[in-house]
Amino acid sequence: MFVRRIAVVGTGYVGLTTGACLASLGHRVICADIDERRVEELRGGRVAILEPGLAELVTEGLAAGRLDFVVGARNAVPRAEVVFLCVPTPMGEGGAANLAAVESVAAEVSGLLRPNCVVVNKSTVPVGTAARTAALLGRADVAVVSNPEFLREGSAVTDFLNPDRIVVGCDAQDAAERVAALYARLGAPTVLTDAASAEMVKYAANCFLAMKLSYVNAVAELCERLGADVLDVTEGIGYDRRIGQAFLSPGPGWGGSCLPKDTHALLQAAAAADFDFPLLQASLDTNTRQRNRMTDKVRAAVGGSLDGVHIGLLGLTFKAGTDDLRDSPALAVAAALRAEGAVLVAYDPGVRASVPGMTDGVEVADDPVKAAQGAAAIVVLTEWPEFRMLDWGRLAEVVANRVVVDTRNLLDADVLRRVGFEVLGVGRRPQLPPVGR
Ligand SMILES: NC(=O)c1ccc[n+]([C@@H]2O[C@H](COP(=O)([O-])OP(=O)(O)OC[C@H]3O[C@@H](n4cnc5c(N)ncnc54)[C@H](O)[C@@H]3O)[C@@H](O)[C@H]2O)c1
Repeated sequence: MFVRRIAVVGTGYVGLTTGACLASLGHRVICADIDERRVEELRGGRVAILEPGLAELVTEGLAAGRLDFVVGARNAVPRAEVVFLCVPTPMGEGGAANLAAVESVAAEVSGLLRPNCVVVNKSTVPVGTAARTAALLGRADVAVVSNPEFLREGSAVTDFLNPDRIVVGCDAQDAAERVAALYARLGAPTVLTDAASAEMVKYAANCFLAMKLSYVNAVAELCERLGADVLDVTEGIGYDRRIGQAFLSPGPGWGGSCLPKDTHALLQAAAAADFDFPLLQASLDTNTRQRNRMTDKVRAAVGGSLDGVHIGLLGLTFKAGTDDLRDSPALAVAAALRAEGAVLVAYDPGVRASVPGMTDGVEVADDPVKAAQGAAAIVVLTEWPEFRMLDWGRLAEVVANRVVVDTRNLLDADVLRRVGFEVLGVGRRPQLPPVGR
């Protein structure tokens, strides 16, 4: 295997995972960030984000001398043969991806790049960005490759090291092959293509997942109306290999740092190309409807107005296993409940204290009993497995009303019923004894 000198710009969920994993594969990696405190912590082996196995890989890489951290892309790139850009591409004006970070790094490093190196866009960027980055760099000797990332937060390291596929796109085939070779040890199917197609793969994948979730959320609502049970329905359709079991769980609407912004960005790109994409627009509309439906359920659970009513929330993050609150559907539901005057106390195993600008208006408790104390209803918003194992007998003693809105269909309703709770799920048959389960 060739050991490459690699620079990774951005040490968030994607950048830090990329850097630490490539170092674990034997490459020599320097990671850069503009956040000086983060760099300082990482140099000391402290990883602020919650990702299983990541801190261990960082410690290992530092100890082996294969991993280092510096402030500023300019200090990471000069000797690198491959430079990964893993900076944020948040939702910008009109829904388009905001490429300011990608563009500012390109401007920062263009004069410093080693001759004939490769710049890799791992950030999620619209079709055409590789070409735009190349133009910004203005370096005929430097190829820009698109290599989208598909890791999931909560299992980032495992996903990076065991990918379903590697996608590498570049109009210069030798550069694409150089990037693909970095992953050779992983033995994953590799799609080598042009830059535009690689960029499109990422959006097409994320939007498909969003669409699948919106579809199942719509099916769940219809199940409620028609008296079917969505868990049996999704089990029944998921065995079909053309459909698959993944991403078939209804919930409070999809969210997180990627699906919403990427859906908006593809819709915006479609509009700019004069292409009407009602299927994708419907996925977004269904998602808004689903989030609103959760508020309706909570109102129904407390039997009327939410004004001044104490609601205990279980879960704030957008999914279990992460501390990421960005565009969390749990926070969207919390905001809607707050807007109707509800008084919210939340417990989340990944969020132990208030996060300014994120959890405003929600008291964050360090214990589920505190969140449930005096609550007119408990609302499960994130699918943390440990919520199933809570001492529901103890929670039954402290709540004002024994009713749970389980927006994730996570809990064992039989266990809760035994201690007096009514459980309202999503797409479930109301309160019927389980059939053959
Ligand atoms: N988070 C995910 O699950 C995931 C999965 C696949 C793809 N992506 C994509 O990867 C990209 C990064 O996402 P993320 O979740 O890792 O973001 P993040 O916000 O966790 O991390 C981005 C990091 O980049 C740093 N940064 C910003 N500007 C910089 C600059 N000019 N120079 C150096 N560092 C800079 C920030 O300080 C931050 O530490 C996005 O395009 C995202 O869409 C994310």
